[in-house]
Amino acid sequence: MAEAVKVAVRCRPFNQREKDRNAKCIINMNGQNTTIANPDTPKEEPKTFAFDYSYWSHDGFTEDSEGVLNPIPGSKYASQQIVFDNLGKGVLNNAFEGYNCSLFAYGQTGSGKSYSMVGYGKNRGIVPIICDDLFKTMNQNNAANMRYEVTFSMLEIYNEQVRDLLQKENPKGGLQVRQNPKLGLFYVQSLKYVPVGSYAEIEKRIEQGTANRTVASTNMNATSSRAHTVVTIIFDQISKDDSGSETKKSSVMNLVDLAGSERADSTGATGDRLKEGANINKSLSALGNVISALADQSMGKKKVLVPYRDSVLTKLLQNALGGNSKTIMIAALSPADINYDETLSTLRYADRAKKIKNNAVVNENPIDKLIRELKEENERLKKSMSGGGVMPGSTGMSAEDIEKMKKDMEEEIRAQLEANMAVIGSNSATWEERLKQAQNEDTGVDQYADRKTKDPHFVNLNEDPMLSNVIFHYINPGVSTVGRQDRDGKSKPDICLSGLSILSEHATLTCSGVTVELKPAEQGAKIKINGQPVTGTQTLVNKDRVMFGSNHLYVFINPKNDDSADDLPKNITYEFAQKEIAQAKGFATGSTAGLTKEQQIVQEQVLEILPMVSEVNAISEELNKYRSFEVVLLSAAARGAANSGSRGDDNTRVMVKMKNLLNSNTWLWERGKFMNRRYIMQEMYQSWLDGEDMSKTKENDDPFWEPTEDVLIGTTNMYLRFLCFPMDFDYPAPVKDYKGQDEGVIDLYITPCTANGKNIQDLDLIASEAVEPEEAAEELRGKPFNFKIDVISARVDKARFSKGLKVKYKMLKDKEDTETKMVKGTVNPEFKHSKVVKIPTVTQEWIDFFLTGHVTFELYGLQQESANDVKLAKMSTKELRQLEQLQKTSQITRRDTSFSLNTAGNDSDSRLKSEFVLLERKYERLLQKEKRLQQLCEEWNSKSGIEKQFKPFHTAVNNLVSAGATSNNTASLSRRTSVVLTQILAGQKALKEQRQNSDGTEVLQANKQIQNPTIEDKQGNETQSKACTLM
Ligand SMILES: Nc1ncnc2c1ncn2[C@@H]1O[C@H](COP(=O)(O)OP(=O)(O)OP(=O)(O)O)[C@@H](O)[C@H]1O
Ligand SMILES: [Mg+2]
Repeated sequence: MAEAVKVAVRCRPFNQREKDRNAKCIINMNGQNTTIANPDTPKEEPKTFAFDYSYWSHDGFTEDSEGVLNPIPGSKYASQQIVFDNLGKGVLNNAFEGYNCSLFAYGQTGSGKSYSMVGYGKNRGIVPIICDDLFKTMNQNNAANMRYEVTFSMLEIYNEQVRDLLQKENPKGGLQVRQNPKLGLFYVQSLKYVPVGSYAEIEKRIEQGTANRTVASTNMNATSSRAHTVVTIIFDQISKDDSGSETKKSSVMNLVDLAGSERADSTGATGDRLKEGANINKSLSALGNVISALADQSMGKKKVLVPYRDSVLTKLLQNALGGNSKTIMIAALSPADINYDETLSTLRYADRAKKIKNNAVVNENPIDKLIRELKEENERLKKSMSGGGVMPGSTGMSAEDIEKMKKDMEEEIRAQLEANMAVIGSNSATWEERLKQAQNEDTGVDQYADRKTKDPHFVNLNEDPMLSNVIFHYINPGVSTVGRQDRDGKSKPDICLSGLSILSEHATLTCSGVTVELKPAEQGAKIKINGQPVTGTQTLVNKDRVMFGSNHLYVFINPKNDDSADDLPKNITYEFAQKEIAQAKGFATGSTAGLTKEQQIVQEQVLEILPMVSEVNAISEELNKYRSFEVVLLSAAARGAANSGSRGDDNTRVMVKMKNLLNSNTWLWERGKFMNRRYIMQEMYQSWLDGEDMSKTKENDDPFWEPTEDVLIGTTNMYLRFLCFPMDFDYPAPVKDYKGQDEGVIDLYITPCTANGKNIQDLDLIASEAVEPEEAAEELRGKPFNFKIDVISARVDKARFSKGLKVKYKMLKDKEDTETKMVKGTVNPEFKHSKVVKIPTVTQEWIDFFLTGHVTFELYGLQQESANDVKLAKMSTKELRQLEQLQKTSQITRRDTSFSLNTAGNDSDSRLKSEFVLLERKYERLLQKEKRLQQLCEEWNSKSGIEKQFKPFHTAVNNLVSAGATSNNTASLSRRTSVVLTQILAGQKALKEQRQNSDGTEVLQANKQIQNPTIEDKQGNETQSKACTLM
């Protein structure tokens, strides 16, 4: 009977980072319902989802002395035991009844998938408890006519390759996934299935698998959260009836810990020339498609094709999803506001999954029949292999294609034969023997467990807590070596590491008594202790964090000599060690208290990306790609994004700068694009390790290659408040790079102008008496307004930018950048660029823009695919990077401080500066205005008798004072202006005197014009008295 997939969601506690950040919990649970609130729209109703189980594991628990988390009485906390009781017990019962069972955990990285599936320490997850109870129940059920056979396998799918985790060595490209032609089901060829006789044996195998996973992930530089881990337990119950014939009830239990469900857009392939990243987890996206298709199907949609074949994972989970299996999905949720998008998408995913219907049947068959069928099938397979002949659909194929197809088919058949033989074989009397053999096998686990408390050793740290504290390297007395096992297998160091930046002879360790000294074997051997590069011999201290190469991170433990610093945490974590490395590189990583949310996110992203950048640098060195990479924090201002209203977000962005070491060309990559490229670089490195010739990679497919593009030298921001008055502004604007370093100057001139671009005469500009730009801006509202931008010239400090320079900017409402011409061959280019911005009507948007916005002028340098420096090309990437490093450290001015998160600093400087210049200009204007008025008064005064014609004087004064002045705000008059007024009044007095001798009509008109009631009546008297005291 069709039965829906059971879906449970589970919300974990805050992690330390979230606590530090005062994260808000956006998840709520009530009975079966889970709600999620959007932190950006607090007024909106939270979205509600209903599931079979909603597990609240966020709070309401205490930790006992053993480290087990237990619910506080009365709280709704769901412990591991409750989750097992609800879900695990059902799995177990179904297994005993002979159903296939599948359990898989879905959720974003760090959301708690592994915690629920496997668990940590004493907080065992569902898988170990199921296994434990399986054996307990088997032992209780011990009946004479019944025997049990349990086999265990563990595999990992990474990058569409299957790796057997119970074997140290895996073939290149991983194990093959094949389809059983009869049953249609997929299986992994040559996967190791080991017989297990007790729970302890399963525990040991899980440990073995985890250790192999850790080693592989470190050596291959693979990010474990991108891997899917599948544990398969085959549970057979064989019963004998009175006649002696045996029946087998078989249950296949697939326990799947899926890769982190990072969304495609956060992986950044979207905007990249190389799109591979879209495939970063082909299996995971295929799983999503399969679930959607199955959900559609169960909703009655016809003709739905379920794309199982699209990925390795969906092939292997075919039965679990829509097939012969009882299936449970646990969706792990992060409670933090910052993860809203991811968590909502997990909830939607889970919501879709619950619509899937499966048809589980009891797998029970007489063994004789099973064996007979398999044997018959094998006969048939053998025949078809020897038969050869023309295959269907082969017409029109080339001989080569036919040959290949034939070969593939033969392989397919051979694999099937093998698989069948394995089943037939396991049913012969050798089960006990096979079990014994497996039990005696050296799994590499547990051998030295007692040494942990006695001998000095290294224990590994991994970004996945599941893979931390898994690998132990013990240090023997005397001298031991650390290094890479050479490919020819000749040299074998005592501590064998492999992977990026590990040399054949990397370091030596000298252990005498309880003291261990570490010495790099040669100058280029990369080792860091507690974040600091090691150059000479150093005595190791208990809990020292030691990094070999670019990603072998260990904690040194000296059980008999605990001389570690008191302020170190009890357990050193991967995050702790990474923070320390970031700090040593000059990045602020301290307490997040006092940082804005954006800054905290930036800090987290820096911590995440730094190890990736080191890794990519190491790949570049190994493949000799002549590229170096560096993390760059680009403030909104430095990117030209802040307040311009047209360039997207205002946040500081974490970006990566790639530099061509042979011609100094540089590129700036968005974080997502970098991550995408890194993924392709990892693949490239892997293929190189597998012996592929990488020199044949075409430029277009090379993740290290990028067509040249103009490089952003730096930016400057021009604030436009002066335009409100309206005034002009000329400014040698300082250009700063992303680190806040001066790179040069752009000479800018911005002035109000007529519609055809004619500068409005200087004095005519003095239209407004408003003091505050807000008031002045009001005067512009609703009127047409034009201004002109002149990019006159520039000056850069670095000669290498003389190839060509240009300036780009974007005005409010502009869709495209405006660019000056590219001026080549000079560091002092004359752009002579001029553009009139015509505003038909000044709207609120423009007023806001004048008051708070700015224009960012970006200075770009031309980069050409110039010939590589021959001298440099003689050196290796590694040598060039070392040289670069040396040059950096020898610079007296350490730039590191600018890496602090306060990247807004740059911009607030230029804002203040422009405000200051504006005030200066306003003051200057008033002085000028006053001077001119005084001059006019003096000129007039100096005239005698009839020459003292008032009309020209009045016109001049009137032009100065009242043209365009509509402000009624009398308070805006400066004291100095009042002086001018006094003079005007004096002029009026003189006028009265003159009136007696001349033509009255004309003077009266003039008088009418001059009067500005506000100035004259309200202010006049008062200012006059003040002005008098002043004079
Ligand atoms: N229910 C829980 N109670 C307490 N701690 C939890 C719970 N769920 C998760 N955690 C903690 O959160 C951290 C991340 O969990 P976990 O390793 O299970 O994440 P994940 O989803 O497997 O991540 P990845 O995709 O990277 O493998 C771990 O330190 C784990 O101990
Ligand atoms: Mg995990």
